[in-house]
Amino acid sequence: MGPCVQLFIILANCLVLFVASIQSAANMTQDERKQSEFLDNLFRNYDLRIRPNFNGPPVEVITDMFVSSMDSVQETTMSYTMDIFMRQQWNDPRLSFTEYNHSVSVHTQLLNRMWFPDLFFPNEKRAYQHDVTTDNKLLRLFPNGDILYSVRLLLTLTCMMSLQKFPMDRQQCAVQCESYGFTTKDLLFKWRDVEPIQRDSNLQLPQFDIVGTRTLLCTKQYNTGNYTCVEGRFIMTRQMGYYMIQTYIPSMLIVILSWVSFWISAESSPARVALGITTVLTMTTQSSGANETLPKVSYVKAIDIWMAVCLLFVFAALVEFAAANYKSRKKIGKADRQKRQKENKLSNENSENSTLLEMKPIQTYIKTDFKSMPSTVTSGAQLSDTEVKVVLHKPPETDWAQYIDYVSRVAFPVAFLLFNIVYWTMYMTWYFNPDDD
Ligand SMILES: *[C@@H]1O[C@H](CO)[C@@H](O)[C@H](O)[C@H]1NC(C)=O
Repeated sequence: MGPCVQLFIILANCLVLFVASIQSAANMTQDERKQSEFLDNLFRNYDLRIRPNFNGPPVEVITDMFVSSMDSVQETTMSYTMDIFMRQQWNDPRLSFTEYNHSVSVHTQLLNRMWFPDLFFPNEKRAYQHDVTTDNKLLRLFPNGDILYSVRLLLTLTCMMSLQKFPMDRQQCAVQCESYGFTTKDLLFKWRDVEPIQRDSNLQLPQFDIVGTRTLLCTKQYNTGNYTCVEGRFIMTRQMGYYMIQTYIPSMLIVILSWVSFWISAESSPARVALGITTVLTMTTQSSGANETLPKVSYVKAIDIWMAVCLLFVFAALVEFAAANYKSRKKIGKADRQKRQKENKLSNENSENSTLLEMKPIQTYIKTDFKSMPSTVTSGAQLSDTEVKVVLHKPPETDWAQYIDYVSRVAFPVAFLLFNIVYWTMYMTWYFNPDDD
């Protein structure tokens, strides 16, 4: 094959292409040809490297967004995810036209031939541009040179949350839009005046209610200059239902359960120990379960206070059992000793002395001269002077074990009720008062 043949093949190919292009042009309708020429003219002498109003005032980009879905507000990673249509509108005088008096929608490939704002999200962790079935983008040109550009994005953004009032908390999650390369001298972002952040009417989050949105400016000052930035905020209140059902009510019931112990006899240790230990352990499990989905923050959260106080209550009930049991054992021990002493006395006495003892109350021996007691009694009962005095001078024995239980039956519920009143008043006031944030 000589070079001539190769040249011939190339020429033939060129011819085929030329004929094809002529044919396609011929297939275009009048309107299509007009549109094609219109776009060609529009971008003739257009340099996309130069911003609109070059050397003039900064380009003003009106931004707004439509939130179509929002989910995964995660405390552990301090982030949230949402699907939005990010819209930007700016004016490029070079792209104004008189051919039509209405806007023209064009293919987004034209973006490769024109200047557009270099918007980015500074608080973004991950983002995804939807491209099924094609890039989810919109480009529209207006006769006055306005350009509307919209793109659909899935964004995972950071949202620093303060959890002091968790789960009665309110969070503000922000989305920031900033220019990467143009300083405020060249580019300014501005929220649209009407409805800058639109939400899908069916938008719902599993754990939060979106109570409102706010827009503000967040112009950044870096070493490289000042950059325009706009910020949108979603104000969200946590739905407490989940935590009520999963944490508050169960732990409250466990505390109440621990009070059952006060109605069980102080002598039945197995029952009361089992109840006490079980409630304490359950509380510990509950509180670690409540913190499972939360980051390891060093400050105290509202739920921590609740859990700590509940744990304290069940622990106090266990300690109360220990005290009551100790007292009841002391009482039994004393009674036993007294009984034994009496038996010893009786067995060692002769009939005369025995009748004397039985006839006279024992106190009389103390009140009268102790030495006058029959020697057989003192020696037989094996009591020292002081021991007898101690035993006999004590006021009539109160049942301390029972007394402790009686007091606890009232004191524990009252204390818990008081705590509940204080706790709920405090946090509910915060919860329903948005100005506190
Ligand atoms: C940035 O803004 C600050 C305050 O508005 C100003 O003092 C500073 O000069 C600006 N820096 C530049 C590079 O424009």
